[in-house]
Amino acid sequence: MSPCGIQPSRLARFALFFSLFWVPRVDADGVNRTIDDTFGDSVTKQRVTYTPASGVWHDATCLTSSGCAIVGDPTQCFSSTYTAATYRDPWSETSIAMQFNGTAIYVFFILANNMGTGIITQTVANFTLDGGQPQLFTHQPDPNTKDLNYGQLVFSLTNLTNSEHTLVISASEVHINSYINFDYAVYTHEDDTQSLTQNSAHKKSAPIGAIVGGVIGGIAVLLALAFLILYWVLRRRRTTEEKKVEPGFDPQMMVEVQSCISFTESTPPKWIGRSLSEAPTFPRQYFTTLF
Ligand SMILES: *[C@@H]1O[C@H](CO)[C@@H](O)[C@H](O)[C@H]1NC(C)=O
Ligand SMILES: *[C@@H]1O[C@H](CO)[C@@H](O)[C@H](O)[C@H]1NC(C)=O
Ligand SMILES: *[C@@H]1O[C@H](CO)[C@@H](O)[C@H](O)[C@H]1NC(C)=O
Ligand SMILES: *[C@@H]1O[C@H](CO)[C@@H](O)[C@H](O)[C@H]1NC(C)=O
Repeated sequence: MSPCGIQPSRLARFALFFSLFWVPRVDADGVNRTIDDTFGDSVTKQRVTYTPASGVWHDATCLTSSGCAIVGDPTQCFSSTYTAATYRDPWSETSIAMQFNGTAIYVFFILANNMGTGIITQTVANFTLDGGQPQLFTHQPDPNTKDLNYGQLVFSLTNLTNSEHTLVISASEVHINSYINFDYAVYTHEDDTQSLTQNSAHKKSAPIGAIVGGVIGGIAVLLALAFLILYWVLRRRRTTEEKKVEPGFDPQMMVEVQSCISFTESTPPKWIGRSLSEAPTFPRQYFTTLF
């Protein structure tokens, strides 16, 4: 129980609240756009390019009766569409190319498992961004299930420069067979002018925010510390005074007196109660100790 209703824990919580409030926030940059296998870019409408242009790629309308061994459920696909091909050694190249202006790219495939003997269901593909080093993705089918795995993230790159990029997904000139089923891609687009103003705003505001946050947080911590010290001093003083109490003096009354010390910024501490005359030097002592 603290004297005068000063509650250090409340003050500490108050300080914590302010330090949290002043932590500089980093805004999420950019918006996600999609590139559908069939409909292309959700904003620019630019389509994906498939190689070879004909005879190899099939969509969800290709059923088992028309020669497609693996048929996906359109309701489980993005935009109810997908585009798939089976690469067979030694075809020269089977690829998908897409372009986007953005800082991140995520590619989602539909992966196949055990569709019966002779049906190629493994997926092996290279992902090459802007003609750089290819990244190989491999999916080994689960022999225990016929289920297709929809919406599988098979490739992603973040932290790209905010410019136009070309992603090529390919299987070429290798002695493997590969089932490639492209559902859609997501890329993070940052508006040029918006990102410029946002970046300059960030450069200015982030350090200021950090400084203000640091200063306010520091003050809050010091305040909390000061009140904790005050609390400790008052407690210690109370214990000492209680020990000093002469025979016949009621310690309970002393505690009551101390509980009634009240002070604000503008008014000096006041003694209320019966033992006012018995402890005339108390208030000044508190203040000289503290300030
Ligand atoms: C964009 O989509 C990816 C993949 O779904 C997600 O991880 C990322 O957080 C999204 N970014 C934004 C800015 O919404
Ligand atoms: C990327 O942005 C540039 C400049 O605004 C534009 O000319 C180009 O067509 C865009 N590319 C794509 C794939 O949207
Ligand atoms: C993004 O790039 C910056 C600077 O090039 C680097 O410090 C940071 O680790 C990168 N982040 C990721 C998630 O790759
Ligand atoms: C992926 O690229 C590497 C390096 O160019 C190549 O050796 C490998 O055969 C490619 N794999 C496929 C499946 O195209």
